[in-house]
Amino acid sequence: MRTALSRRNFFNQSFGLAAGGVLLRNFGFKGRSRGRGLSTPLIVTSHPNETGRRAMEVGWEILSAGGRAIDAVEQATNVIEVDPEDMSVGYGGLPNEDGVVQLDASIMDGRTYNAGAVASLENIKTPSSVARLVMDRTDHVMLVGPGALEFARSFGFEEEDLTTEKSRQRWLDWRENRGDDDWGPPDHLRGLPETEAGMPRPSVHEHGTVNVLAVDSYGDVAGITSTSGLSWKIPGRIGDSPIIGAGLYVDNEVGAAGATGRGEDVIKSCASYYIVLRMRDGRSPQEACEDALEMIREKYARVNPEFMPGEKFVAINRAGEIGAAWSYSGGRPTMSIRSADGPDTFTGTNFRTGED
Ligand code: GLY
Repeated sequence: MRTALSRRNFFNQSFGLAAGGVLLRNFGFKGRSRGRGLSTPLIVTSHPNETGRRAMEVGWEILSAGGRAIDAVEQATNVIEVDPEDMSVGYGGLPNEDGVVQLDASIMDGRTYNAGAVASLENIKTPSSVARLVMDRTDHVMLVGPGALEFARSFGFEEEDLTTEKSRQRWLDWRENRGDDDWGPPDHLRGLPETEAGMPRPSVHEHGTVNVLAVDSYGDVAGITSTSGLSWKIPGRIGDSPIIGAGLYVDNEVGAAGATGRGEDVIKSCASYYIVLRMRDGRSPQEACEDALEMIREKYARVNPEFMPGEKFVAINRAGEIGAAWSYSGGRPTMSIRSADGPDTFTGTNFRTGED
């Protein structure tokens, strides 16, 4: 249908082409910012808003009382998941094509080298806590769909409608304008003559996610990634967030990394694992986040030299250094952080434009 086409064309003209010019000038930027070091214990989130700040206070209460990083990240993430205003995570997250909210989340505990995840989970506001139970109470790592829901119900989680008036309205607006051609080739193959001919263009989708990472006073590291995933996704689509190594990775000897952005790119690049490996090799969290964006750029450049996807990475190491980088067409990523130095924010670098 024409509506979807024209929306996409508008998007390309407004952002894609403008960004293309910038891309050519700035690729190759990396490692200019050294990130920042703080005292531990420490908790950070990719959410810089008021809810993110409140979440950090909840996590900090646990950490400052000598609690574990794994408990701090779970309690902090819950604050963000239940916020009805946040349309990228938990309750009020943007629904799939059918108007149903399907949540993905993962948790990893560096101390125990254990992990848990849920994907396509419906009707439960706090998927990270279900992921925690998968980690703690089973020898599995990931439960999906109805199995994950049944597992949550068996632990007393109550089923609730996760759509809010606002998120439902957004879905209705999208449905009004959608066409039969909403799904097409992946972004990096669009514009290439051999792919483009006769292929539909997808409509504009949104993807938001929260990462919460912490180091506790024992030096143990933990992390969570939680999301409602890509808006208007095909039912059953699973992004990077519940996949250990893609949307989240923790190594107690090194640190932790989390991803936000188009999950398909992050899955293919195993980005969070890559960031932790880079830190293990001596790169700062800031440099490691930028290294991952460069790695992704290189991979796509072999197929489409003009293409750079929009991803956001955050990382901490066990010494309390933090880093963040994204590759969106403007601005810089900001994190909320909490340590003994008080509440604070950290602004990372824009890999695409070179802003730091
Ligand atoms: N990064 C969230 C998603 O793509 O599902």
